[in-house]
This record gives sequence, structure tokens and C-alpha cells, in this order.
Amino acid sequence: MKDIIRQQMSITASSMDVLNQQIQMESKASASYLAMASWCDQNAFGNSALFFYAQAEEERSHMMKIFKFINDSGGNAISPEVTDINHDFSSLEEVFVTALEQEIEVTKAINGIVANAKKTDDYAVENFMQWFIEEQLEEERSIRDILDLFELMGRDGIALKLIDERIKTE
Ligand SMILES: [Fe+2]
Ligand SMILES: [Fe+2]
Repeated sequence: MKDIIRQQMSITASSMDVLNQQIQMESKASASYLAMASWCDQNAFGNSALFFYAQAEEERSHMMKIFKFINDSGGNAISPEVTDINHDFSSLEEVFVTALEQEIEVTKAINGIVANAKKTDDYAVENFMQWFIEEQLEEERSIRDILDLFELMGRDGIALKLIDERIKTE
């Protein structure tokens, strides 16, 4: 039965597998950003909190985009289980460094999906992933811009307040 379903898919079985892994990753990123929002709220970094709440929503929308794509292609999207969310940060800078590390991991995973699509001549998936490549460039850039503020303004109490005030909340 499973093999018949797979034959009716307009994407390759290996693409479906890596896209399901990506659903898991986007979902974990969403949950992880929520934890960051919570830390920022508790530490009175209001704009940073809003930034991470918005990121959490975005990651959820990325997850849904892939989820729908798999099902619309005749595949089987798997609802992910998310565990081990870190809530423990020692500073605002550490929160943003962790966010950047997470985005870099996502970028690598997305590049891997594209590489796999190319290898298997899965043009539908290669085309679908272009939007994600652009999106990753944008997200990495916005977090790097925030990290630059720590270099420019420092890390004392006043500097952290000013950095938080500068963070765009969309
Ligand atoms: Fe994402
Ligand atoms: Fe992201």
C-alpha cells in the first residue's frame, strides 16, 4: 500500500523524507523561539520578546508551508513531536547567538534538501525550496544585524536597554 502511495507522488520518496525532517526542524525552531520570547519577557526586554514571538509564528508558518506541500504532492506529512526545548540563557546576547546558530543549522538543512532534489532530478522540490533559501538569507541577516549592536553599543545595563529599544518588532 505504502509503495503504491509513493508511486502516485509527484515528488520523490527521498524528498518526502527530508521534507518531513524539515517539518520537525521548523517546528522545533518555533518552540525554541517561544522559549526565547519567554526569557526576554521575564528579563524586561520587551522588543526582543516581540521579535521572538514573531519569529515563533514565522517558523510555524514555514512548517505549515512544507506540511501542505507534501500533502498536496500526494505524500504523507507527519505531525512532529518536539522535545528538549532550552529555556536557560545567561544573557540577551546569548539568546541572539543561539538564535543565529539555530538559523545556520536550518540553512544547512535546506541546502541539503536542495542538493538531494538536484541529485534525484526532483525539480518540483528544487523549485519549492527557492523561497526558503531567500528566507534564510533574510533571517540570518536580521539576527547578525542585531548581534552587531552588541559590538557597537556594549553589554552593560544601559547598552542592553538601548539595544532592545532598537530591535524591530515588525
Ligand atoms: Fe524557518
Ligand atoms: Fe528561521
